[in-house]
Amino acid sequence: MNSAVRAVVRMGVYLGCKVHFVKEGYQGLIDGGDNIAEANWASVSGIIHKGGTVIGSARCMEFKEQSGQMKAAKNLIKKGISNLVVIGGDGSLTGANRFRESWPTLLKELLGKGEITQEEAETHQHLHIVGMVGSIDNDFCGADMTIGTDSAFHRIIEAIDAIVSTAYSHKRTFIMEVMGRHCGYLAIVAALSSEADFVFCPEMPPPEDWPKVLCKKLSQEREMGQRLNIIIVSEGAIDRSGNPITAEQVRDVLVKELKQDTRITVLGHVQRGGCPSAFDRILGCRMGAEAVLALMEAQPGTEACVVTLEGNQAVRLPLMECVEKTKAVAKAMEDKKWELAVQLRGKSFQR
Ligand code: F6P
Repeated sequence: MNSAVRAVVRMGVYLGCKVHFVKEGYQGLIDGGDNIAEANWASVSGIIHKGGTVIGSARCMEFKEQSGQMKAAKNLIKKGISNLVVIGGDGSLTGANRFRESWPTLLKELLGKGEITQEEAETHQHLHIVGMVGSIDNDFCGADMTIGTDSAFHRIIEAIDAIVSTAYSHKRTFIMEVMGRHCGYLAIVAALSSEADFVFCPEMPPPEDWPKVLCKKLSQEREMGQRLNIIIVSEGAIDRSGNPITAEQVRDVLVKELKQDTRITVLGHVQRGGCPSAFDRILGCRMGAEAVLALMEAQPGTEACVVTLEGNQAVRLPLMECVEKTKAVAKAMEDKKWELAVQLRGKSFQR
């Protein structure tokens, strides 16, 4: 995310805008004070190679309430801010859109309570918002790749390559649990690029008799001389009834049926840290620059957009349409309509 933050600041400064950091996510927007600090060209030097985000991030329930939004709106107005770039997943982006939709009501309330002046209300009639998708899960419809996914993918592959040494020497089977919440993208690409033998992911639950299918496949491979097996389990993996398939369940099947020396490695938050990949750095630069351009071109009444990568192009898409589509994937999975879920996920999931 740092490359995106850097690009927003520098593109903004380059175009003659006054740019502010909002630290600690929506919580910082609500708390105001030092959390909303002016940024300059130098304040984003030396951050492009750092993981996470230097401006901090937080899950914030208060921003869902009108009282929280009122505080946030007042802080923005007092600082003279009328354009907002939001980086986050569908939750943060939905919040951004709601904030923008409530803006006229918030203004009216603040004015009525004497919290802002008539002049401030008039100069801040519109709040323009542009979103960028920051999520390692690659779960946002409309984006071929979200910021952070490629770095997480690299982390996973490095870990599997390291695990393979022990697996090979000791003829073991390793089950690697990877992140992705309800999205199997990381699991699938990790499986393909590590020559894994089996993958469990949310959008494509295995057949009912998966223990049998799995054991048959692994036995055949061992019979052909393979010394190890790698199985990738997405943290959101489910069976055809929608029940979770866990790494422990898979291990128990292999130990019981094949008597294999089987170990589990849960990669966890290792996937979300470390130096961002070269691809992610460029992606952040491109998205950040495009987000500022989109804000500069926004007119009163322009719909909130999200800047994404589509077919290697930076594009602007209607924010809520993408959020709705992303929610439709979750619904399709809930309804056990797996093909529809994959179709809705978009190009990065298909042939
Ligand atoms: O949304 C990204 C993600 O990394 C998921 O893959 C994972 O399930 C979740 O966040 C973990 O969130 P937290 O750090 O809040 O436990």
